[in-house]
Amino acid sequence: MHESTDLRISDHPILDFGNKEDIPFTFDGHAMMGKEGDTIASALHAAGVKILGYHFKTKRPRGYYCAIGNCSSCLMIVNGRANVRTCTEPLKAGMVVETQRDRGTPDVL
Ligand code: FES
Repeated sequence: MHESTDLRISDHPILDFGNKEDIPFTFDGHAMMGKEGDTIASALHAAGVKILGYHFKTKRPRGYYCAIGNCSSCLMIVNGRANVRTCTEPLKAGMVVETQRDRGTPDVL
């Protein structure tokens, strides 16, 4: 179970993030909110979700690592499609995002 936390940086001394549109999606059945311009993983990270999946053999938790689509540490099931690199996949309204625990089976705890 995940408890939502807002870790998004809204006030920065140099960068101006503006007022971006909210993007609703679900994560393992929970209603979540990202911002326009987020990837799936950045929206989850901003909400305090750091475990994006589990290694199919070792079952160790996996999360953000390279953040550029090279390492496969952020694979998740998105709209029923497994093995989506969520660090580079743009967040879209209504996306159904699920934890990936093996080579592509949805999280059905
Ligand atoms: S964090 Fe490396 S591919 Fe997504």
